[in-house]
Amino acid sequence: MRIYRADNYQALSRKAANIISAQVIIKPDCVLGLATGSSPLGTYAQLIDWYNKGDLDFAEVRSVNLDEYVGLGPQSDQSYVYFMHKNFFDHINIKAENINIPDGTNRDAEAECWRYDQVIERVGGIDLQLLGIGRNGHIGFNEPGAAFEKFTHCVNLTESTIEANKRFFASADDVPRQAYTMGICSIMHARKILLIAAGKDKAEAVYQSFFGPVTPNVPASVLQLHQDVILVADEDALSEVKAHGLI
Ligand code: GLP
Repeated sequence: MRIYRADNYQALSRKAANIISAQVIIKPDCVLGLATGSSPLGTYAQLIDWYNKGDLDFAEVRSVNLDEYVGLGPQSDQSYVYFMHKNFFDHINIKAENINIPDGTNRDAEAECWRYDQVIERVGGIDLQLLGIGRNGHIGFNEPGAAFEKFTHCVNLTESTIEANKRFFASADDVPRQAYTMGICSIMHARKILLIAAGKDKAEAVYQSFFGPVTPNVPASVLQLHQDVILVADEDALSEVKAHGLI
């Protein structure tokens, strides 16, 4: 594992965008695994900026997103498909047919998860998977207790995640209770993983995930077993790691 320390969110976003752009330049038709949440917003803004300056070309890039709320589609401004278009895809030259996101409007969970696993297989697997991290150590929507051997599946969201994500909805009651998510196994198959973490409320999750025991109780801890993981975090997110004298 490699850890890049960033002084602040802007520096973190720039570093993460640099790593993604290196991937796109080295392999223009690469498969990017993408994430939602507030953590990657700065990274996407930086990539858009470099695209506008002519430094990056997404014409051949393929993307697969981590997850989507069950019941939400492109018309819903809380859906992840909406988020990705608004914050990234609509501002770069990625082709519509190269964008893949689980279809939250498909209520047949088994069929949708199977379809999505086929999509990931058909594009040849993920070259670089971008991840945020939940306060409870979740990645994608793999909540504590998630089995490590799962591919795409339907999950029931925990109260902690509903609470954390309600800021994007009118109220906690409006947050969908289920989501389709790539599983831990799908994520672990990515050839490279880039996890970004910012802020004090991620400090415990970062410490437990990267320096605690590998356990399903902290889903991101499985990343310790991956051979190519980069953590880009700001000083606040690294504060527990520092307090334990580990960096
Ligand atoms: C959601 C997403 C995760 C994301 C997490 C943290 O639960 N499914 O992929 O990592 O939120 O979000 P934020 O970056 O806003 O803290």
